[in-house]
Amino acid sequence: MNPSENDLDQAITTAAAELKKANRVAILTGAGVSAESGVPTFRASDGLWEGHHIEDVASPDGFRRDPKLVWDFYNARRANLAKVKPNPGHFALAKLEERFGDHFALITQNVDGLHQLAGSINVLEIHGSIHRTRCTGCRRIQHHELEPFAELPECEKCGAMLRPDIVWFHEALPQGIWQEATAAAALCDVMLVVGTSAVVHPAASLVPIARRGHIADDKEGSTIIEINLAKTEASEFADIGLYGKSGEVLPRLVEILNEPDA
Ligand code: APR
Repeated sequence: MNPSENDLDQAITTAAAELKKANRVAILTGAGVSAESGVPTFRASDGLWEGHHIEDVASPDGFRRDPKLVWDFYNARRANLAKVKPNPGHFALAKLEERFGDHFALITQNVDGLHQLAGSINVLEIHGSIHRTRCTGCRRIQHHELEPFAELPECEKCGAMLRPDIVWFHEALPQGIWQEATAAAALCDVMLVVGTSAVVHPAASLVPIARRGHIADDKEGSTIIEINLAKTEASEFADIGLYGKSGEVLPRLVEILNEPDA
């Protein structure tokens, strides 16, 4: 075993000990947790999709300018997602929830639904879901299979155009879900920050919220454990850094956590 593997193993053991002491746990995930399933991350692709800036295909202005381009982008993502499966990182997080039950919240920036497919229950999708559309007229929300739409989709009730039920750049987060997410961050004893570059706000601000803890309650700040290929904007808040693939680190972490005490 090389020294860095040894360091990672030790850090995983320390992280498992923190989780063992914890009463409440919150997780914040980003695109990196789905990378090993074959879902491209955002910033690895230089923020471009087929030469277009991601902002152009993921913003209200972009949709107003060229809805077909935006739907082409989402149809391509939906077609890819129809083929992919959760990876061991997703399954490990579902297993972690079994241990903490009601005292567990999985806050995700991902819209791919892979956490739920892996069996996670309390999933707070702060950036929406690619499995749903929202009517731009009557605002009705609908679930859809992941087949690409052959034409620009329209609302069966009011005839207006449908858009993905996803939070785009320059849009507000769904209020109720965001409140639940901030409460889970403020109240947790341990937060795992997994596979996110932590550059997109307000999602990334959940990390300092957890770090500070719940002031009114005199609760101490939570222990932050970062799991990523490399350091990020969240690293300055992290007590423990587990730098490796989440699909490998998370199963090892949960396995050590669930080992019976000696
Ligand atoms: N294991 C762990 N981490 C990984 C892995 C992996 N196998 N592969 C990549 N990563 C890490 C990268 O190092 C990076 O820090 O995942 C992170 C992915 O970062 P982004 O692509 O910026 O994704 P994310 O943080 O989820 O983006 C946030 O930005 O575009 C918007 O709304 C979109 O929800 C998205 C938000």
